[in-house]
Amino acid sequence: MKKLIAIAASVATLALIGPAAAQSPIIIKFSHVVAPNTPKGQGAEKFKELAEKYTNGKVKVEVYPNSQLYKDKEEVEALQLGAVQMLAPSLAKFGPLGVKEFEVFDLPYILPDKAALARITKGPIGKGLLAKLEPKGITGLAYWDNGFKIMTANRPLIHVQDFQGLKMRIQSSKVLDAQFRALGAIPQVLAFSEVYQAMQTGVVDGNENTPSNVYTQKMHEVQKYMTISNHGYIGYAVIVNKKFWDGLPPDVRTQVDKAMAEATEFANGISQKENDDAIVAMKKAGTTTFHEQTAAEKAEWMKALEPVTQEMASRVGKDLIAAFKKEAGAKSN
Ligand code: LMR
Repeated sequence: MKKLIAIAASVATLALIGPAAAQSPIIIKFSHVVAPNTPKGQGAEKFKELAEKYTNGKVKVEVYPNSQLYKDKEEVEALQLGAVQMLAPSLAKFGPLGVKEFEVFDLPYILPDKAALARITKGPIGKGLLAKLEPKGITGLAYWDNGFKIMTANRPLIHVQDFQGLKMRIQSSKVLDAQFRALGAIPQVLAFSEVYQAMQTGVVDGNENTPSNVYTQKMHEVQKYMTISNHGYIGYAVIVNKKFWDGLPPDVRTQVDKAMAEATEFANGISQKENDDAIVAMKKAGTTTFHEQTAAEKAEWMKALEPVTQEMASRVGKDLIAAFKKEAGAKSN
């Protein structure tokens, strides 16, 4: 609540001083919830460097990592109110905004590989999803990759029955809620910034996330077991306040767009290595036992998770799921 009052106050200040585009330099506040040394954190820094360079300093980008300004849900509200101009929330966090179709990316095993991901995000499906943000006062600029998820807990997660009764932290997606229920676990929505402490104090028993997120939040210090399961995906939509974006002088917008296109190439180019390196670093830390899934174990998880797609069809959209699967080349259920 305090945070929202603060947002409203800063918006009132903005109203007094006029639109951001009239300021000199034009400030783009880019808020995000992860560490600077992640694919998204580095992508944001690259965007800052290029946007400032290409606009000859007409634009200044202020990057606020690690939920410094706002947590998951607050940051979207802050963007709509104009207190920040740019975000890159994970695709699992658009449900509360009313654009639940993005949760298609959360369906277990829906993306076979990064080539399929590129076909989807660069094609009509990706563009169509971003267009759904416009009526919310948000313009979608790009998709940034992170990677496939691992499972973590203080108990080995080998078989489906190992999830029974475990409290697992999730992002706000209903698909992820259904996924953990299908495994017999108890899903719990928590802001990303609260996960480490929740694990440390036993509020949750585990979570799913990408290796780079797990490592940079030091979750390996408080999680004894991890399974490299690649059962689902985490990526981002880079979004901007539509009024701010439309109000930019056209020459400036062209240069910022160019910076975004190049920062996108950069972020997507480093994501796999960042995640691979994170696994190596966590193995080296020696605090966690890693399990590589066998084909039989994967088949067991897939079978348990198969009903999730059907169950979520009315929420995410039957036709969207079918089109997504067709483009991804994934096996249909
Ligand atoms: C999360 O688990 O909340 C992450 O998706 C955070 C992020 O932005 O990668």
